Amino acid sequence: MPKVIVIGSANVDLTIQVDRLPTPGETVSDGRFYTSFGGKGANQAVAALRAGAQVRFLAKVGRDPNGDRILEQLEAQGLHTDLILRDETEPSGVALIMVDCNGRNAIAVAPGSNRKITPEDIRRFEPLKGWGETLLLQLEVPLDAVKEALTLARMQGLRTILNPAPARTLDEGVLAQVDLLTPNEGELERLSGSPVKEEKTAVEACKILLDQGVGEVIVTLGEHGALHVTRKGAELFPGYPVKAVDTTAAGDAFNGALACGLAEGRPMEDAIRFANAAGALTVTRRGAQDALPSRDEIENLLQRLDEDTP
Ligand code: RIB
Repeated sequence: MPKVIVIGSANVDLTIQVDRLPTPGETVSDGRFYTSFGGKGANQAVAALRAGAQVRFLAKVGRDPNGDRILEQLEAQGLHTDLILRDETEPSGVALIMVDCNGRNAIAVAPGSNRKITPEDIRRFEPLKGWGETLLLQLEVPLDAVKEALTLARMQGLRTILNPAPARTLDEGVLAQVDLLTPNEGELERLSGSPVKEEKTAVEACKILLDQGVGEVIVTLGEHGALHVTRKGAELFPGYPVKAVDTTAAGDAFNGALACGLAEGRPMEDAIRFANAAGALTVTRRGAQDALPSRDEIENLLQRLDEDTP
């Protein structure tokens, strides 16, 4: 069974579904409210698990009712929680999410305890030495913790995947430790400092990051799929047509399934198709972790698409 280590955030997501997103100062009424579990780290851990991987997840929640609920949810998913730390001072992370009738969202996060993950906490994953093939990270936790995780993973010979979300500037010391970087277009623009308008400019921006030491780049393009860029060239993997109701966690579904696919030894092309299908299924459902598909669902979608291809 493929083994994936995920380090990152865990949040409670408070979502309101509205017809359209409000502009600053405006109140939009008649929304529908729901609470779900999120955080890019936790979402990616659950996505990899549902896609078929064995997963170890390191995160930090508060010593508060939300922290208890996050732990219960992760356990209910079948994840070990021995690497979920508790912070005694900060509350657990919370995200306020608005989703419009086309599934587009706007998210504000109060990271709370997620911000308290330290390099020392990361070194607790020393007992995981020799466990797993792949480390999956995002940027909702402090950068010094991300750096420590990358350094340890490299020493242990793990493949490192960094989903640079939310967008932050990264120095070459970080980028050079990343085997696979998975930005969206906005994150790619921020990281490379180069405008991204279409495929050609995206490839140029990726080349800047490759020159800074990243192993390879996959740019997630939402409904348009994913662009894989290496030193040898670029290939676009088109997205799958679905009716989007909530795009929250689509990128997380992609990253979790990608990590699983690569850890189980799929060639990159197969792993990207598998991840594209996971992302597509996720946008057809509401919420973050609630929306993540199972391995069977991903494989059924891929099979249906194969059958429909003339
Ligand atoms: O990627 C989606 C996630 O971003 C949400 O679940 C929210 O918690 C924020 O972290």
